[in-house]
Amino acid sequence: MPTVINSQLSAVIDSYLKGLKDSDPKRLLEYSVNLHSAWTDTLNSFGIRDDDIVLDVGTGLGLIPFDIASKTTAKVVGCDISTDYIDHANHILKKMAGAQLLRDESRLSFDVANITSLPYDSNYFSKVIVREVFSYLSDPQIAAQELHRVSKLGAEILVEDIDDSLYITYPQPSQAFETLFNVVKMLQNDKGGDRNVGRKLSTYLSGSGLSIMNIKVITESSHLSSDQMWAEKEFIARQLIALKPQALERELASVVEFDTAFNSWLLEDVQPGFRMNARILVHAKKSVERFQGQFLSLN
Ligand SMILES: C[S@@+](CC[C@H](N)C(=O)[O-])C[C@H]1O[C@@H](n2cnc3c(N)ncnc32)[C@H](O)[C@@H]1O
Repeated sequence: MPTVINSQLSAVIDSYLKGLKDSDPKRLLEYSVNLHSAWTDTLNSFGIRDDDIVLDVGTGLGLIPFDIASKTTAKVVGCDISTDYIDHANHILKKMAGAQLLRDESRLSFDVANITSLPYDSNYFSKVIVREVFSYLSDPQIAAQELHRVSKLGAEILVEDIDDSLYITYPQPSQAFETLFNVVKMLQNDKGGDRNVGRKLSTYLSGSGLSIMNIKVITESSHLSSDQMWAEKEFIARQLIALKPQALERELASVVEFDTAFNSWLLEDVQPGFRMNARILVHAKKSVERFQGQFLSLN
């Protein structure tokens, strides 16, 4: 597992992960740990200071807030639509605080909240982060407007998401795997999400009145050994098993189609190979206020 955050926080997260049975929260935490390992520079260069008020929307189990709270005394709020994830984040918070790993745990809190109607005052936060949440939304433009509303004038906003066209592997995935991946894509689309949202983020954010400062592509590439490929395969298999009931219920595949593809993919040997994944990161700023539908510059 890559080192997340710093070794002490990492130890708490690792032991928490070991205590979780296979479940959504466990899979999300594993996913977030991997994702976070490519985010160290991003978060450092966001320049969060002790006097910032930070919001992390769609925080999951709270990795970003824990990282920030271990380095600064900024006020940090993490929120997520899932009550279950927020319960876990609060459990991890107790463990981190017990081990005295946070600079001031009273400045960190978690709430259950939907990005499209955030329970926070307007013009409140000075830094807002939204990592891999837009790809799940059916109302991305409303979400962007909420980010604009809760941000104070001068606030900086970081939004990152996937765009499937940026995922490259070699050797090519098998037909069976393509079939299964298509089911996953259809499921996300069927729920109103969008796995090609990366390229659209800046349009949503500027449409809400935020100014686009810059856009980066965060790339991760590696040559995975057979052992790493097996670990990846096991992780994907657990995700697919968990998603199967929803895919069948929504009639995105028949039982026979799903099981045939799954069993055939399971029997495939793994081969060491290349992986490249990239995510789009948009850095925006609130430099104008919205007033009765118009944008007024307050500079
Ligand atoms: C892929 S996870 C990313 C978690 C975290 N941001 C990270 O990067 O580690 C997507 C998260 O978005 C949350 N989410 C999805 N729809 C949401 C919504 N409408 N409002 C708030 N959170 C939402 C999910 O519950 C989940 O925790």
